[in-house]
Amino acid sequence: MGQADRDLAPLASIRAPEKKLNLFEALSAAKDNSMAAVPRAAYDDLVYPFSGGRMLVVSDPAFVKHVLLDNVANYPKAPMEGKILAAAFGDGLLTSEGEKWRTHRRLMAPAFDHRSIVSYAPAMVDATTQMLDSWNSRPAESEIDIADAMTRLTLQIISRTMFSSDSDEICDLLGSTLRRGLDAMNFGLVDILPIVGPISIRRKMAKIHAIFAALDDAMRRLIQQRGALGEHDASDLLGRLVAARDAETGLGLSDQEVRDEMVIIFIAGHETTAVAMTFAFYVLSQRPEQEARLHEELDRVLGGRAPSYDDLENLPYTRMVIEETMRLYPPAPGISARQALEADTFSGRQIAKGTAIMIAPWVLHRHRKLWDDPEIFDPGRFSAERSKDRQRFAYMPFGGGPRICIGAALAMTEARLILATIAQRYRLRLAPGQTIELKARITLRPKDGIRMRLVPRSASPNGDPAPLAPAG
Ligand code: HEM
Repeated sequence: MGQADRDLAPLASIRAPEKKLNLFEALSAAKDNSMAAVPRAAYDDLVYPFSGGRMLVVSDPAFVKHVLLDNVANYPKAPMEGKILAAAFGDGLLTSEGEKWRTHRRLMAPAFDHRSIVSYAPAMVDATTQMLDSWNSRPAESEIDIADAMTRLTLQIISRTMFSSDSDEICDLLGSTLRRGLDAMNFGLVDILPIVGPISIRRKMAKIHAIFAALDDAMRRLIQQRGALGEHDASDLLGRLVAARDAETGLGLSDQEVRDEMVIIFIAGHETTAVAMTFAFYVLSQRPEQEARLHEELDRVLGGRAPSYDDLENLPYTRMVIEETMRLYPPAPGISARQALEADTFSGRQIAKGTAIMIAPWVLHRHRKLWDDPEIFDPGRFSAERSKDRQRFAYMPFGGGPRICIGAALAMTEARLILATIAQRYRLRLAPGQTIELKARITLRPKDGIRMRLVPRSASPNGDPAPLAPAG
């Protein structure tokens, strides 16, 4: 690392405006790319006021902790953003609040506990191996769009693990709904303006309802099929949701409530992991030293066989590559804005009632007061030794506090297994003639995908990559 890294081509980033934008400039910059409205100074200042102080970009880890954990009751998710998300997702875990959120989170938690995650690992590796089989049948050095390939893969994994469904219909429908839906869901500064804000939100909601209609029908069919089985099968998340009964009233969830939770898990559960994998392969293609170190670890520990859950503890560098990728490219670049219910103070600073708090992992993870050489890809930052003095809320790809991502451990397992399975067999090379541009909305994505060439790492005499042996 260090000088060698600086001599390589710079990694894709988002150019921060040199100075503060006026409202009009900020609105137009944020339309396609929410982080393009955040000026350079926000990467130096731990608290950066926007819109005359009605919005604060908070990057002081202690202040973030105050908002997301210590005084969380005063900072619920800002309602306008929730409305847009709820038009598509319904009132599922990501958007619900209060007692409903608490009950549903408790109900769903066992599907994300350690035992369950271990039980999902074989399906994760199987789906990845199947994808490799299809890559193996392509001519050498074929080009793929890695963003597209990772989206398909993670969608299949979430479908199999959470809903025991291999349905191509659902996967295809989800893919197309999301492509259109995520675009329509763009939440901008315009939505918090008086008069035009509510009109803009109503328009977006109507468009989103229309986009989600076909998917809703397919979800209802899946729920009814499971309900019709008549047995209380809680072996996956869908079974758990359908079988759930309130301890006091004996009442279960309505079909609509089950649908809402399914949609949110389907969506939150694959898009973000796909983004993490896409950028991992992109960065590795640009940083040969770190790629070689990853390959060395995988070859030494796995020796050409598919990974299992038990291997993960012996693959620390694989984990560090994923963590450092999500530092530079946090799949959720800005978590949902929070809004102060009542006036508050933090460390002598007055926070007026109604102040919107923006916490952006993109900004935090590249903040010059929190990281040395923040632009440099250095997985070693996440070694135990170098992590020990880091403030907890300086790194938060999964958010923090009680609303922390319910799927964080599942996603870390999935990402490491996918990386270990693919990187043993293929080196992905950036296809020439592209400039990688980033688009930050609800998730961070490469604007036009990333075309990569599939280069087999160890080819048999006829040029085909040898198949992975089953996990030991
Ligand atoms: C690399 C992968 C992932 C990243 C970076 C990620 C990131 C996040 C973040 C930042 C939040 C907090 C949002 C906020 O506070 O406003 C969140 C919440 C959530 N995530 Fe994830 N996520 C990932 C994978 C997953 C997976 C695999 C699932 C489910 C299978 C999932 C389901 C959820 C749900 C349901 C919530 C809402 C939790 C609540 O409010 O109680 N996510 N995620």
